[in-house]
Amino acid sequence: MFEVLKELPSDSVLGLIKLYAADTNPNKVDLGVGVYKDEQGKTPVMAAVKLAESQILKSEVSKTYFGSDGNAAFLDAIAPLIFGDDPAIAQRIVGCQTVGGSGALQIAAKLAVSCADAPAIWVGTPTWPNHLPLLGASGLEVRTYEYYNQTTQKINFVSMLEALSKGRAGDLVLLHACCHNPTGADLDLEELAEVVDLISAKGMVPLIDAAYLGLGSGFDQDLQALQLVVSRVPEALVAFSCSKNFGLYRERIGALFVLTESPASTGPVKSHVQHLARTVYSTPPNHGAAIVTAILVDPAMKKLWLAELKASTARLNAMRANLASYGRVGQIDLGALASQKGMFALLPLSVEQVSRLKDDFSIYMAPSGRVNLAGLNEDNIPHFVSALSAVLA
Ligand code: LMR
Repeated sequence: MFEVLKELPSDSVLGLIKLYAADTNPNKVDLGVGVYKDEQGKTPVMAAVKLAESQILKSEVSKTYFGSDGNAAFLDAIAPLIFGDDPAIAQRIVGCQTVGGSGALQIAAKLAVSCADAPAIWVGTPTWPNHLPLLGASGLEVRTYEYYNQTTQKINFVSMLEALSKGRAGDLVLLHACCHNPTGADLDLEELAEVVDLISAKGMVPLIDAAYLGLGSGFDQDLQALQLVVSRVPEALVAFSCSKNFGLYRERIGALFVLTESPASTGPVKSHVQHLARTVYSTPPNHGAAIVTAILVDPAMKKLWLAELKASTARLNAMRANLASYGRVGQIDLGALASQKGMFALLPLSVEQVSRLKDDFSIYMAPSGRVNLAGLNEDNIPHFVSALSAVLA
């Protein structure tokens, strides 16, 4: 049966891992996959994670199953971190531990398909490339609009409002909680409030992808947009990832939170979410959940984690400021990066120019022109900027 299959192209982001590893140029630069890197180009295990792991190794007494919604202590630790302590919100929330943020997005999408007749999801482009196939494969009709104009390097707020005004009740609207991937360009809170009021008036439901909390302006500040949305809508879905802010990428740890209009809906929603998880992977892996829980319930470990996260964010912001200080390079306004946030910037480069950066300079980035700023350091920034000038000439 398998002879019918044609080989697919490698993933536009993950495919870069092997290409970069195979490059023998000692001056190669990895601006590809969205992982944090230190000044030496390493993606370290956080000290808080190491401490938590050593504690778990000593104290874990069983590896028996949890249910399909995973580790309850993990959900109890994450929910107040994101939503605060308001009991009126807490009693409207259903949580489910998921296989990374991607697992949360998939269950959220499938839940929406169970609730409405042929719902769509409205996705601003460009976005994380896997959003489109992942959400589409879950049965949602994917409707796109221009969120960010790569040439002008600005958000297209008019196109966003125009597109969303065509939405129907039961449709989802994908929003990035902060540190927009791939552009780094977030709506300000006033714009966000306008968008949220529009989608709420139409009976659409926000699906917030919260993958980079803490990597923009600090954990609490990065939460402002998410909390604004939650405070203005009756229903919402939040796909939370611990990959980036806890550095737990390969542990695949995330959570889906469903905000229901009334506490009476939480029982039925919980049963559906659990059923959806059960039919895909049955129950999620526990190691990442145990680590995050151990960190969050121990004030000293939590403090250490937040300090490490803050230091990573400070490094990212320093690289952003350094690159932005070059101002205009050819048609690219690097100065625009200064007002953007998070791990990424999207440069107006063609696929051919990105290929030339790889082939002629061993600089690896996603074909879209997305740069992972964590791959930059004080030494390689001048090299990167002169390579940019060369491919733009
Ligand atoms: C990225 O955007 O580079 C990361 O989220 C890794 C991935 O899975 O694509």
